[in-house]
Amino acid sequence: MNNLTPAEMVLMRKAGQITRDALNYCETLVKPGISTKELDNLAKKFIIESGAIPSFLGYEGYPASICTSVNDMVVHGIPSEDVILKEGDIISIDLGVIYKGYNGDAARTFPVGKISAEKQRLIDVTKQCFFEGIKNLKVGHRLGEMSHAIQVYAESNGYSVVRELVGHGIGKKMHEPPEVPNYGKVTDGPLVTENACLAIEPMINMGRKEIWLLEDGWGVITRDGKPSAHYENTVHVTKDGIEILTL
Ligand code: MF3
Ligand code: CO
Repeated sequence: MNNLTPAEMVLMRKAGQITRDALNYCETLVKPGISTKELDNLAKKFIIESGAIPSFLGYEGYPASICTSVNDMVVHGIPSEDVILKEGDIISIDLGVIYKGYNGDAARTFPVGKISAEKQRLIDVTKQCFFEGIKNLKVGHRLGEMSHAIQVYAESNGYSVVRELVGHGIGKKMHEPPEVPNYGKVTDGPLVTENACLAIEPMINMGRKEIWLLEDGWGVITRDGKPSAHYENTVHVTKDGIEILTL
């Protein structure tokens, strides 16, 4: 696990704030009729005007600044002129920035206009999975205590947890050790250490946990075609508790 200095944390906080502000801006744009490509263009402009770099753009060849995953898409949806939001959809927007060499990474799932009660419950439970998780993220405890809490909360609400994709350490690089699964046993994983930064990101399916990778090599969809939601924040672990950097 990484161990960031107070001086580095100043920059991590700023990266987190820009990430949060860009996602809040995206939320104001989400309406029936907008394409996911327009969301990407506007988000990119916002990030650059904030003095940061969109970290996803060019990452392992990823062609956009944000991921836009609609309905049964779990994560990593590539923005497209051909994907136009419509009333009743849900869209997860995942967005990362680099500010003076430090990373912020976060995701939210938003409703498009009026959505069904069952989709709203999926969004709410996925967000709450994150908060149930961090209640169990403590210095000196196994990371698995958090992972397990996320899984129990999702499954007790009748949903399933994606296995192939996990959260991660974050700092000078977007992806650092350790892996941060959203499932597992309390005895799994490394001991949590002070001053680590982690991106915790439950990906929760309304139906079954199995996924497909699209032929574009990025988009991940549910095999059963049922909706999926994603909620992510970058956090800083301190002995006094968890500081959420992207909220
Ligand atoms: N936010 C994603 C993650 O947590 C990264 C998106 S993949 C990218 O792993 F290629 F688009 F950057
Ligand atoms: Co992430």
